[in-house]
Amino acid sequence: MSNSPSLKIGIVGFGSFGQFLAKTMIKQGHTLTATSRTDYSHTCLQLGIQFFRDVGTFIEANNDVILICASIMSFTKVLSSMPLACLKKPTTLFVDVLSVKEHPREVLLRVLPEESDILCTHPMFGPESGKNGWKDLNFMYDKVRIHDEATCSNFLHIFASEGCKMLQMSCEEHDKIAAKSQFITHTIGRTLAEMDIESTPIDTKGFQTLTQLKNTTMRDSFDLYSGLFVHNRFAKQELENLQRALDRVKEMLVQRMREELGPEKD
Ligand SMILES: NC(=O)c1ccc[n+]([C@@H]2O[C@H](COP(=O)([O-])OP(=O)(O)OC[C@H]3O[C@@H](n4cnc5c(N)ncnc54)[C@H](OP(=O)(O)O)[C@@H]3O)[C@@H](O)[C@H]2O)c1
Repeated sequence: MSNSPSLKIGIVGFGSFGQFLAKTMIKQGHTLTATSRTDYSHTCLQLGIQFFRDVGTFIEANNDVILICASIMSFTKVLSSMPLACLKKPTTLFVDVLSVKEHPREVLLRVLPEESDILCTHPMFGPESGKNGWKDLNFMYDKVRIHDEATCSNFLHIFASEGCKMLQMSCEEHDKIAAKSQFITHTIGRTLAEMDIESTPIDTKGFQTLTQLKNTTMRDSFDLYSGLFVHNRFAKQELENLQRALDRVKEMLVQRMREELGPEKD
């Protein structure tokens, strides 16, 4: 149980990541509700939380926080389909956890009432890397529009109290860095999957790392991966940089082969 006040948190999008976050929030003593495209009534019953099939009824509940865990690709549609005029508390804190940040920031600022608070976050871990706890895992956040500092700080405390490394940065800075790091990681994992790499009887440690990378990236949905590209304006350049780097490495090898064996071996 966390020693900060209990929050009423409504989760929108109760897929793999929404459920993963919910478990720790329940453990900490927060009161949760959820809504999603798919009917998760049974899962919610098992977790002891209320599930709303109807987003209108969900939004009428008196939530302190609405936590959006929908996919990057569906985010605009999910938000636009919420009857925001029915919000009981217009000062509700809206939080998103998307793996890109400029896109939800722009949409939230555009569609939410001026009184609503906005916190854009990216927990830099998931059900696999966070399965044994969140200690020392990175949690990025940007306080985009906060009037009620207390609720925002109580929400951030959920992650800080689990031992996350809390990193405050702008959504733009996040997307620049994530295009060079997370997007490239996923792209290499997906590329290795396209090559059908499998572990062999003579694996090196390096190759074991690659097969592990392939397996972990393929556990995430293609929706998630494509969102990293479509909604991060810095990703296209990084994909080109990767392609050019592979061309240069190949060129270096071909050049060396020519020097060694002569041009006829091309
Ligand atoms: N997985 C991770 O490790 C991780 C880490 C950090 C952040 N995130 C972020 O967390 C969010 C959820 O990720 P995820 O791993 O659960 O997988 P995801 O494939 O990115 O998103 C699945 C969620 O999106 C909803 N969704 C998808 N298409 C929809 C549509 N057309 N209309 C309405 N809802 C739709 C799904 O609802 P239903 O289940 O009801 O169909 C489900 O709740 C993403 O924004 C992702 O970037 C994920």
